[in-house]
Order: sequence, then structure tokens, then C-alpha cells
Amino acid sequence: MTTEQPILTAQNITKKFAGTVALNQVNLEVYKGEVNVIVGENGAGKSTLMKILSGVYNTYEGKLFLDGEEVSFKTPREANDKGIAIIHQELNLIPYLSITENIFLGRELVNKFGFLDYETMHAQSREWLKKLDFNIDPKTKVGKLRIGEQQLIEIAKALSLNARVIIMDEPTSAISDSEVEILFRIIEDIKKKGVAILYISHKLDELFKIADRFIALRDGQMVGKIEDVSHVKKEDLIRFMVGRDIKNTFQRTKIPYGEEILRIEDLSFYKNPNTEDYWVQNVSLSVRKGEILGIFGLMGAGRTELFEAIFGLHPNRVTGKIYIEGKEVKINSVCDAIKAGLGLVPENRKKDGLVLQMNIAKNISMADTEQVVKSSFLNNVLECKLAKYYINKINIKTTSEKNITKNLSGGNQQKVVIGKWLATCPKVLFLDEPTRGIDVNAKNEIYHLIEQLAKEGLAVVVVSSELPEIMTISDRILVMSQSKIDTEFKSAEANEDAIMTAAIK
Ligand SMILES: Nc1ncnc2c1ncn2[C@@H]1O[C@H](COP(=O)(O)OP(=O)(O)OP(=O)(O)O)[C@@H](O)[C@H]1O
Ligand SMILES: [Mg+2]
Repeated sequence: MTTEQPILTAQNITKKFAGTVALNQVNLEVYKGEVNVIVGENGAGKSTLMKILSGVYNTYEGKLFLDGEEVSFKTPREANDKGIAIIHQELNLIPYLSITENIFLGRELVNKFGFLDYETMHAQSREWLKKLDFNIDPKTKVGKLRIGEQQLIEIAKALSLNARVIIMDEPTSAISDSEVEILFRIIEDIKKKGVAILYISHKLDELFKIADRFIALRDGQMVGKIEDVSHVKKEDLIRFMVGRDIKNTFQRTKIPYGEEILRIEDLSFYKNPNTEDYWVQNVSLSVRKGEILGIFGLMGAGRTELFEAIFGLHPNRVTGKIYIEGKEVKINSVCDAIKAGLGLVPENRKKDGLVLQMNIAKNISMADTEQVVKSSFLNNVLECKLAKYYINKINIKTTSEKNITKNLSGGNQQKVVIGKWLATCPKVLFLDEPTRGIDVNAKNEIYHLIEQLAKEGLAVVVVSSELPEIMTISDRILVMSQSKIDTEFKSAEANEDAIMTAAIK
């Protein structure tokens, strides 16, 4: 630990949004060559504070000091110029621009003739991507990338700014364990060069590997810091963050299953109809009422593609049979899937899950408007009633169901997507990384909720790249590797090593 002056100081920061005090008189000191970890539940104010430090918000009460000198940033560009970079929680890339254009946005290089120097920019982008072990042509449009890949681009972009303070707001929420390791090696490296890191994550286990100090925010207030991290245990950290012990960590209770509800036979999803190249190859599986089936796989194994194939997103490239309650169904669109009784909580809430500009009630009723239509008119009262029910049921932190979804914290947006699909009353609910960005307490709430739904007869299929999560909630675990599923574990006989071995083969 250093005894130096903090490189960045925030003094008495207060930030109010209509109806919410997101930050209340917060003080923060950030030190050079250290990973300063901020913990707090969903909606505690972490991202809001980071956005103030990085110039995204320029109206707030309080003061910022950089190297002891007062600063105020009108724009993110001004913060960049002073050496502060941010990896945003809600990825901020422009989909129709290439990787290079995103990395160099607003600071493009020009050659001696005054033209954009694409050659050098591509070369530098390639270098940064190589450091992250991401093999891709930097001319690729960002919109073509999966969410985990986009996260890697955000990381490359922030690193390429050579900043003195790098803010990482949940940088690992969508990337795989091996990529996390690479990021951590880079963090160790830049720490040695005196860079200060501000780090936020709900994956508590990873924090112990990199934290030099912990700082906790609760309901917009700074509640304390831990400067000697060597003896801190997970329970201590949770108590520090939440303010009380969380005793009821989730434990599955056995539920008797009902009859088979979904059977998939020999499902394949071709990358290209002319080649023998697959996203998903000859997958068969079945789920019964009340059963929670887990699918584990590393990023790129084909998990998300499997869900897309089942949901009719690529009808021309998918072969195989799907049976619901013993009857074969043809699913050529998401609409067909909903009608057949399937629901999907997608991996990318921003792109596929929510209309962020609309209010919470509209988002929740969107996938099944029939429930809120009366005499052919959308009934606002019914819509709000439905939304209030799910706001209570899954504990969405908001003052009203009429609030715009964009203004919710990241974790609470994720809960809205879950609410939206529950409201369609599906027979089988597919969840793709359901607790991405969800805090430890709310994770337990979501596990309880999933179990409760199973008890009520719902069949659940969960995809997750978090092994502990899959092991905690599943009755049975299928492991997907290289587009195929050929290993199955009963939850009682599953152990981390065996699952991991099957996943990397
Ligand atoms: N633009 C906005 N307008 C209105 N309210 C907002 C806005 N941005 C954030 N809030 C509110 O401020 C509070 C803090 O949100 P913030 O995003 O900072 O939380 P967080 O700690 O980052 O949570 P998470 O772990 O879920 O990402 C929340 O109650 C949120 O709804
Ligand atoms: Mg946040």
C-alpha cells in the first residue's frame, strides 16, 4: 500500500436525478499503482460516480481534484485529455463503425497529407487486440460482434488511451474466464507503471485476486473502506457492501418433476449452408415440467447460438425437430416460439431484451400485449398493474413503473428483462446468462424465483458461463463444447473439475 497523495479525489459529490438522489455527499480517494475496488448493490450509485469522474455527467454538487488540483470535465473528451479513461458497463460502441474506428473515435490519426491514416490505426488496433489475445480483423464492423467480443473492444479502447486513471465498470461481465485472466495480467502490468485503476464488479471472487483496497457505496452514500485486503473474506465483503449478513445463500430443494414438456432432436445450425461448418451440431435434449436444466459452456461454445436456433432466429439454416408436450412444432420466428410457449431472457439486454427509451411497464408487457389489451385498446391500468406485480416479485429498484428503463441501474435493467419474459407465462423459460451484472443479494433472489417458478411447473433452461451458478441451480447439467453437447451430469455427481474438463475438450 502506498502512503502517497491520491491521484484523484472526489469531495462531497451529490448527484440528483428527478426523484432520486443517486449520490449523497460522497468522498473518494483513488491511488496510483493500485486497484481501487468499488462495491455496492445494484443501484447503489457506482456507475453514476464513475460517470462523474470521467466527464459523462457534468452537473453535480461537489469537487474533483486531479493531482491535488481542482478539475471539472465538461465532456468525456476533456477527461480523456487529462488522462482518465472509462470502460462502460453498458457498452458504448458504435455498431456501424469498424473496430479501429471505434477505438480511435474522436482522436483519429492523420498522415502527412492530412488524410486519415488507416494503416497506422489498424496496426495499432491489431496490437491492442493481440495483447488481449483476440484474433480479429480490426476492419470488422462492431455490430457484427457478440457482446463478449464488444466488451474486449471497449477494454482495448480504454487501454489504448494510455490513461493515468482507468475506470473499469464491470469489465468482465460478458467475457470468459481465460479472457479475465488476460485482463488481470494487463492490470498487474499497468499498475506497475503507476496507473490507478477503479474497478467495479459483482463477481466477488475475482475481486480478491486484484483488489488493493475496497470502497463501499450503499444507497448513494460512501459507507467505508478497507485498506488492508489481505484478511478480507467473502462474507466480510458482502456484509461491508450490504450492511448485514446474508445468511440465506441459495440451496436447491428437490422438486418432483412432471412430464416431459420440451424435446429437441438432432438440432443443427449451419454457419453456411454450403459447408459442413456448424454453430450448433446435432444437439438433442429434453426438459420436464419443474426441471431446471443447466447448460454450461465457455464463450464461443455455441450456447447462445443454440438458443437462437431454437427460437427461430435463423430458420433457413436450422435443421432438426422440436416437440412441445409431445407434439412437433415448427418455429420460424420469435413469434412462433412465444406461441409455442417458449420464453427467452437474452444475453444482450440492450440489443435484444429491452427498449431502453420506453418505460418499465411498457417493456414488461411488450412480449405479450394480449394481457393488457381490453376491447382492442391497450389498457394502461392493466399494463401498470402487471408491471407493479413483477416490480414487487423480483424486487426491481425503482420509484415508479412509469420510469424510463434507461434510467435504471444495470442490474435492475436485467431484472426488467426477466419480468418481461415471466409475464408471457411461458411453459419453458430459457435464460441466457440471467444474472449478468446482478449483485450477490439479488442473485439469490433470482435463484429463489427460478426455483419457485419450477415448483409451479415451469421448465427452465439456463445457460451460464459461471460454474458456481450452474452448479447451484441446475438439476441436470449439459456441457456444450465446440458446437456439440455430449456430456451430461446429474447435479449430485457434478464437480467443477469434471465440468470444466468436458467444456474445454
Ligand atoms: N439517468 C438517470 N436518470 C434517473 N435516474 C438515474 C439515472 N442514472 C441512474 N439513476 C438512478 O441512480 C441510482 C444509481 O444508479 P447507478 O447506475 O449509479 O447504480 P450502480 O451502483 O451502478 O448499479 P448496478 O450495479 O446495477 O450497475 C439508481 O437508483 C438509478 O435508477
Ligand atoms: Mg452500474
